[in-house]
Amino acid sequence: MLTNKNILLGVSGSIASYKSASLIRLLVKAGANVRVVMTKEACNFITPLTLSTLSKNPVLSTYFDPETGTWNNHVELGAWADLMIIAPASANTLAKLANGLCDNLLSAVYLSLKCPVYFAPAMDLDMWKHPATQKNIASLLSFGNILIQPGNGELASGLYGEGRMEEPETIVDILIDGLKKKLSLKGKKALVTAGPTYEAIDPVRFIGNHSSGKMGFAIAEELAALGASVILITGPTTLKTNHSGIKRIDINSAEDMLEAALTYFAESDLSILSAAVADYRPKEVSINKIKKDNSELKIDLVKTPDILATLGKLKSDRQILVGFALETDNEEDNAVKKLKNKNLDFIVLNSLRDKGAGFKNDYNKITIIDRELNKEAFELKPKALVAADICKKALDLLR
Ligand code: C5P
Repeated sequence: MLTNKNILLGVSGSIASYKSASLIRLLVKAGANVRVVMTKEACNFITPLTLSTLSKNPVLSTYFDPETGTWNNHVELGAWADLMIIAPASANTLAKLANGLCDNLLSAVYLSLKCPVYFAPAMDLDMWKHPATQKNIASLLSFGNILIQPGNGELASGLYGEGRMEEPETIVDILIDGLKKKLSLKGKKALVTAGPTYEAIDPVRFIGNHSSGKMGFAIAEELAALGASVILITGPTTLKTNHSGIKRIDINSAEDMLEAALTYFAESDLSILSAAVADYRPKEVSINKIKKDNSELKIDLVKTPDILATLGKLKSDRQILVGFALETDNEEDNAVKKLKNKNLDFIVLNSLRDKGAGFKNDYNKITIIDRELNKEAFELKPKALVAADICKKALDLLR
């Protein structure tokens, strides 16, 4: 998301400016072009040399550079930036920005920006709580700027409370989330199935499988980060999600999952079915716990409904339907058969043969095969990044 993005980092006078160095490193590592504007006070906390070395660009702090005799043009900087992040944002800088002052390069650049502006305040707890600061924050929010809430903890003054600048890793995540949100799936509805199903044998036993739900949850979170409103229908799992864009529906059996999927499918633009649904269920569910009186126990099994195939029959041209295939042999042939039989737009193939991938793991290794039989094989990656690859393919088709 950050590759080739032009990011302007404003650094103001606060002890937290040491975190700006890590922030620059993370942004550059993620592929962004970073230019830094510092206030005069910020240069007392951290040297421009450190930040220019890390950003690989000259650091600007004054309108006029006496050494080169050049004018640092705030309008040109404003036009260059895809986004600006002011971190740390001191109480003084926030006050200037909120009131339109432009007596230094940072505040002048801010006034000429058209791109999104994030600010990550850092200050002592009493300065943070002061009504003047809170009024300035409210003004900046009313301009559409985005607050990166300071955390609670030990402050440079030795006091404890709110005012610690957010950690650079979290700031980068917030910037990425913001860029994704700006994209793509706003106003779209998505349906995701995840986890195993449990098919009851009696009140205490069931037929289940090793699915953890991690892949489906990662997909639901990625879709929500892209702005979709997501229905996540999940079998039993210990996973949690608290993204406001996700409505979670917990079910146990394949029948329950089908019922929930049918409720939401018609209005879904995009459905990704990653659940490991049991293929068979006991024909009869014993009302009482089955006793171990006999040396053998035979349980008759009947087929569960194929949710994906059912949705494939109902699917309209405007809807994208995606399935998974977990195969142990003849992998691609079997995946292509499923793609066709179940009327999918693409299928995500993962093999149990790939070490470290699949069930319960945090990593997965997939191949995507679409209707035109285009194949794309991906590296072993964390499931969050696999989810991003799957959602990107779905987005391309939706467009
Ligand atoms: O045919 P198979 O079970 O291998 O297909 C796997 C795909 O079908 C997965 O996307 C899975 O979520 C879905 N499926 C389903 N209902 C079933 C069985 C599988 O939705 N009863």
